[in-house]
Amino acid sequence: MIDISEEGLMNVVYGPQEKHPGEMVSFNETDQVITCSADNECHLRIELLTSKIVRFRYTVKPYFPHDFSYAIDPKFKKEHVNYECNVDEQRVIIKTDYLEIHILKHKMFVHIYDAEGNLISSDEKGFHWEENHEYGGENVKMSKSIFPEQAFYGLGDKTTLQNIKGNRFTNWGSDEFGFKAGTDPLYKNINFLYSYYKGKTFGLYFDNSFRTFYDIGQERKDILSFWANGGEMDYYFFYGDDLLDVSAQYTQLTGVPEMPPLWALGYQQCKWSYFPESNVMEITERMRAEKIPCDAIYLDIDYMDGFRCFTWNKERFPDPKQMVSNLKTNGFKTVAIIDPGIKIDFDYSVFKEGLAKGYFCRRMDGPYMQGKVWPGECYFPDFTNPEAREWWAGLFQELIEDIGLAGIWNDMNEPALFDVPSKTFPLDVRHHYEGHPSSHRKAHNVYGMQMARATSEGVKKFAGNKRPLIITRSGFSGMQRFSSTWTGDNLASWEHLYLAHLQTLRLSISGVSFCGSDIGGFIDQPEGELYVRWIQLGVFHPFFRTHSSGDHGSQEPWSFGSKNTAIVRKAIELRYKLLPYLYTCFYEHTITGRPMLRPVIFNSTDDADVNINEEGFLGEHLLFSPVFQKNIRSKKIYLPKGKWYDYESTEVFEGGKMFIVRAPLTKIPFFIRAGAVIPTFPKMQYVGEKVIKTVTLKTYFAEGETTSGFYMDDLDGYQYQEGAYRYSRFITKGSGSTFVLGQSFNKGYEPSFHNYRIQFIGLSSEIQNIHIDGVESKEYRRVHDNKVELIVKNSFTEIIIQF
Ligand code: GLC
Repeated sequence: MIDISEEGLMNVVYGPQEKHPGEMVSFNETDQVITCSADNECHLRIELLTSKIVRFRYTVKPYFPHDFSYAIDPKFKKEHVNYECNVDEQRVIIKTDYLEIHILKHKMFVHIYDAEGNLISSDEKGFHWEENHEYGGENVKMSKSIFPEQAFYGLGDKTTLQNIKGNRFTNWGSDEFGFKAGTDPLYKNINFLYSYYKGKTFGLYFDNSFRTFYDIGQERKDILSFWANGGEMDYYFFYGDDLLDVSAQYTQLTGVPEMPPLWALGYQQCKWSYFPESNVMEITERMRAEKIPCDAIYLDIDYMDGFRCFTWNKERFPDPKQMVSNLKTNGFKTVAIIDPGIKIDFDYSVFKEGLAKGYFCRRMDGPYMQGKVWPGECYFPDFTNPEAREWWAGLFQELIEDIGLAGIWNDMNEPALFDVPSKTFPLDVRHHYEGHPSSHRKAHNVYGMQMARATSEGVKKFAGNKRPLIITRSGFSGMQRFSSTWTGDNLASWEHLYLAHLQTLRLSISGVSFCGSDIGGFIDQPEGELYVRWIQLGVFHPFFRTHSSGDHGSQEPWSFGSKNTAIVRKAIELRYKLLPYLYTCFYEHTITGRPMLRPVIFNSTDDADVNINEEGFLGEHLLFSPVFQKNIRSKKIYLPKGKWYDYESTEVFEGGKMFIVRAPLTKIPFFIRAGAVIPTFPKMQYVGEKVIKTVTLKTYFAEGETTSGFYMDDLDGYQYQEGAYRYSRFITKGSGSTFVLGQSFNKGYEPSFHNYRIQFIGLSSEIQNIHIDGVESKEYRRVHDNKVELIVKNSFTEIIIQF
């Protein structure tokens, strides 16, 4: 008898009752869709969605079920694909510009070749399935071969090293308070992975919202298998010229976020919890008094009346509207938490309304899904019901429109429950699932994402054309369309500092660039040095927030002695200087789908070792190598081929090898690619404190040609979607005797700054002359042995320096 308990399927890898497709007996091709049928009622439908995205879908029924997925971006459009489809004795061959897909008649195995005829992916056992007697439907499984040196990346928030080969994982959103290295599953469910083999890359997205499993060469080192205990074997294959191209294919399918408001990329301060109001004011005033830049303050669950969402504890916060407005005057945005559990209380309007409208989840035989979370016994909205989402969105009117909150933080939405072994809903709970009713087995992994979606819609509705900040703890593939995220309840330990680095890079390449960790650790008190190193790591994370459980000492930037405060201040100031670079990376992410944070291999596939873990890229040109151990004051780093400048000292390194670099506590080792242009802001206490009058372009000399970008808009609002932005493209061209900086940009938007201060870095030779748009200029000054500075209009097109 096969064990089909929740975990049982893990053991049913190759059970005796396994069934495989038989011999192919027919195939049919029309309009980029090729359907192959085997002699044992198994059908494979291959859909050419774009020239690089191919969908593979199997069924063992005479039909394909209703086609719906929460992951796929509704904006995704199938494109015209040039292809040929032929058949010979042994196979059906589909040839596109990038791929040759062979479907063998024997068991309908799929083998995929690139345009040069290299085999890049091949089925081992291919598709197989088991009947699922208890629940109906199938346990579906796919297995493919692994080449000896093939590396794999992705899969969301897993804590392992970047190359996930040799591991087994489960995706089943779980509240893992105090998780450890290797804890699995975690909060998020992202069924996307990359393959990298000898410079050849592809991606696989398994579009299945049931509990999914991945064995990446753990059970058998040459086999990749993925399976689910329900739903369809429905996966997308992405061909990529390189790993970044694979990211772009995945986000083309599952979507990208809108631009966040710039303040949301500033520093944010959080604790469980700052209350009462006087405490919130004390923290924010101290932030200004200490001159620590900060843009947002958070209210955790204690602002509510008995943890009832959408209410206020009026003793702690007698006049929230006034408080939020005072905070705003002092340059702080207020962000508050909202959980899914709605307290069972007949005097509580949200509960009564949800009940009257029938929006709460029910058990299989009728009773409401009841479970304990912070407020005690609760019911839970069914966020897979569009009407419930609309109702939920409407609940934000008071918080956003009236009180003036700028962001909402969704938590506990795995969904998490207290006091039950599964830590979540029983599997029989019913869900609407957009009109295709399902059990929790199918809806669990999408619940958090649909909550974030409803929240985002609500906040946007009432934010008066301001861009919201939404944060969610759980999510599914495609969650990036609605929300940012953090890595959950980590610990104040050196190990967790490193995990935060691994997880954020991985989340980013899994589609969710807008991510960060609880800086300093959520559980326990960090020592000063750990906090400093964590802030220094956070400088490069798009979501930059200190958070702590508050049951230990304080965790504010000034909590660790004046020496550490000074270092933390400097690091946060650096973050604000780098904001325009970060904002540009975000914009480019929304346009290209390429991740903001990238493991080294993603930016330099020709020379990098596939296993470099301790470093990361922010965008194209900034490589950071944080310190992850106590008492470390120098560290070994790898710099990819090409020249690199140490940002702080401007020292030049010739990459392609390892270096030992200084890393005193005051320093974050990070490097800029030679040839890059990095836009920076002046020092500020918060976004909007002053109108930006000058942007400094740090322009690093390199021989040859290098391209950089710089994006600027109104920093909030939606005018940018109507073209109210400027995107400058810079090209630097260096040789032995000249250095040229060219700019081109879209017309029609005038940014607040009219001038650039350009710093040419790496120019140690004597300058003969400088021409700005054809006119010689003497208005430059040497500020350092290798640094020359000049001020030019923001509209310049070419600066030529001769030396
Ligand atoms: C959960 C969250 C944490 C939050 C706490 C109280 O543990 O992960 O960030 O502070 O709940 O709301």
